[in-house]
Amino acid sequence: MVTASWPTVSPMGAEEKFGRGADEWLSGLGLVRDAVRQELVHRQLLAHLPQVEGPLRVLDAGCGQGTQAIALARLGHEVVGLDVSGKLLHEARRSAAEEPTTVRRRLCFVSGDLLALGDEHTGSYDVVCCHGVAMYLPSLDEAIAALCATCRPDGLLSVLTRNRAGIAMRAGMTGDWVGAIEAFDARHYRNRLGIEAVRADEPEEVQAALTGRGAYAVAWYGVRLFTDHWGPERPGPGFAELLAAEEEAGRRDPYRSLAALTHTIARLNGRANGH
Ligand SMILES: C[S@@+](CC[C@H](N)C(=O)[O-])C[C@H]1O[C@@H](n2cnc3c(N)ncnc32)[C@H](O)[C@@H]1O
Repeated sequence: MVTASWPTVSPMGAEEKFGRGADEWLSGLGLVRDAVRQELVHRQLLAHLPQVEGPLRVLDAGCGQGTQAIALARLGHEVVGLDVSGKLLHEARRSAAEEPTTVRRRLCFVSGDLLALGDEHTGSYDVVCCHGVAMYLPSLDEAIAALCATCRPDGLLSVLTRNRAGIAMRAGMTGDWVGAIEAFDARHYRNRLGIEAVRADEPEEVQAALTGRGAYAVAWYGVRLFTDHWGPERPGPGFAELLAAEEEAGRRDPYRSLAALTHTIARLNGRANGH
């Protein structure tokens, strides 16, 4: 397991920004919207994970409550979950404690800012995940640069970002016509957690940021199209079919372009990071 040191410096802005919505985020876990997001991200990532003998070294940057980190550890991988929020890390550790010892031993949840990782983390991970974090950070490019720096050459990146086109979609689907009209040209919006000025990026912008840092997108998916505007419904009968429909929409045009979130899978060039 990784023993490197972790920066505990709190990023002014990032933690502050998400922290205001942390309780609301926690109360939404397990609802249909969260279940669709987590299950699709997991399935989409799984399709690209290298089939190797032995565990992959994974960094889940901004791991939150640890859903994806734990799912990857269950598959046999060694996962570091990094987050700035003590509250979310507490949840992640609580969930990890319920796992069998073999899974628990492969998990390490640490406090730190993904934008302030030291040189000792450069090129350290086979897989770097960052799901639902970049929209709270000041710059997409800075976030992508930090993630690429921790990835080993030829390693995999899995980045979930807010999709710009999804802002007007959600407003329109809820009958908020004024909001929809404003959203067509918006870059920022007030999200469902009540956080103001959350940034949304276009899939092409994420791909360009990756290219600028020595990585290339191997695939991109939409996440949550049909259910993005839903309320606090819990998964019930028919959820498997709902997931199958969301999964299909997420992988094909034009539907994926209108989903709430964009999941980009990228590979770091073999010679990136000075290797
Ligand atoms: C919306 S939650 C997503 C949690 C998890 N990745 C998921 O998809 O379920 C965003 C997480 O990013 C974390 N975060 C925000 N800025 C961060 C930073 N600079 N470094 C590390 N974590 C950060 C927050 O504390 C929060 O746990």
